[in-house]
Amino acid sequence: MFSLTALLCFISLASAASLQFISHPIGPNPRNVSFYIYVPETLALQPPILVFLHGCHGSAQDAFANSKYSSLASRYGFIIIYPDSPNPADKCWDVSSPETLTHNGGGDSQGIVSMVQHTLGKYGADPSRVFVSGISSGAMLTNVLIGSYPDVFAAGAAFAGVPFGCFAGTGYAEWSDACATGRITHSGQEWAAIVKRAYPSYSSYRPKMQVYHGTADEVLNYTNFGEEIREWTSVYGISKTPVSTCLDTPIMGWTRTVYGKGELEAYSAANVTHDIPNQEDVVMKFFDLTCMIGGCFRRPGSTG
Ligand SMILES: *[C@@H]1O[C@H](CO)[C@@H](O)[C@H](O)[C@H]1NC(C)=O
Ligand SMILES: *[C@@H]1O[C@H](CO)[C@@H](O)[C@H](O)[C@H]1NC(C)=O
Ligand SMILES: *[C@@H]1O[C@H](CO)[C@@H](O)[C@H](O)[C@H]1NC(C)=O
Repeated sequence: MFSLTALLCFISLASAASLQFISHPIGPNPRNVSFYIYVPETLALQPPILVFLHGCHGSAQDAFANSKYSSLASRYGFIIIYPDSPNPADKCWDVSSPETLTHNGGGDSQGIVSMVQHTLGKYGADPSRVFVSGISSGAMLTNVLIGSYPDVFAAGAAFAGVPFGCFAGTGYAEWSDACATGRITHSGQEWAAIVKRAYPSYSSYRPKMQVYHGTADEVLNYTNFGEEIREWTSVYGISKTPVSTCLDTPIMGWTRTVYGKGELEAYSAANVTHDIPNQEDVVMKFFDLTCMIGGCFRRPGSTG
């Protein structure tokens, strides 16, 4: 618990900050993803960065307004990047192109990583504490960023997404009916090979993951939840059998399973549709974003 004084202090200082649009070039951004950022008035020393991704038909502004993250950022001193999809048709993210699915290959993923690099430099942020989360198309892109840029992120949290590579196609922001309806399934070994192909020379730390999915998801079938678990446990080289199972966590009817040494946490939300409620507090805890000084969770061996 923080003291009441600290709470009042941070809230009053933070009220001056707002969502900023960064229009100047920030490094490779071949798809011209729009860059919005929230920098609270009071930053933690070497602040962590959270990338928070909207879903289809969403926007950076919606993502900013409809989540608790900006007030949490004000309280705990972290920076939030809110990318905005350049796809005018439906504002879905590019999770299909060979570019986005390849390390430094282009696509929406590379533009977002350029935003991260820019923010690290400008604010002296902590390169070992960069996180990404999103819902729906934003959850798919979370899986993509974790697979294509395992060197950049410390962890990801995906709400109602699909595995890395499940939407793979030939063009930008293509819809994959086969993946959405749960007809794309692979062995763990196959999924791990798909992830490995994004960045074949990489053999270091793999960002830890949380995946969340409603059993009654009518847009991205629940099959994708099991495929995400199979994919990431195989990438980490850990057992698909959970080490713990907790019922009614964090909500009545949701079941949490944990794998390995906590590399993966999966939340199965009984009877929940695609409209799954964000769990900012659970994600904050997994990312350790409430930590402001010393001993915080960070990716190991990161030099930036
Ligand atoms: C990139 O997007 C911005 C708005 O976000 C727009 O003003 C600009 O014209 C776009 N540039 C290109 C090359 O599409
Ligand atoms: C998901 O796919 C399975 C298998 O095709 C199907 O039985 C189930 O009804 C689908 N779920 C939803 C919510 O549509
Ligand atoms: C989910 O729905 C089924 C069938 O309608 C019902 O039996 C079950 O109790 C529900 N579970 C929860 C946690 O709401």
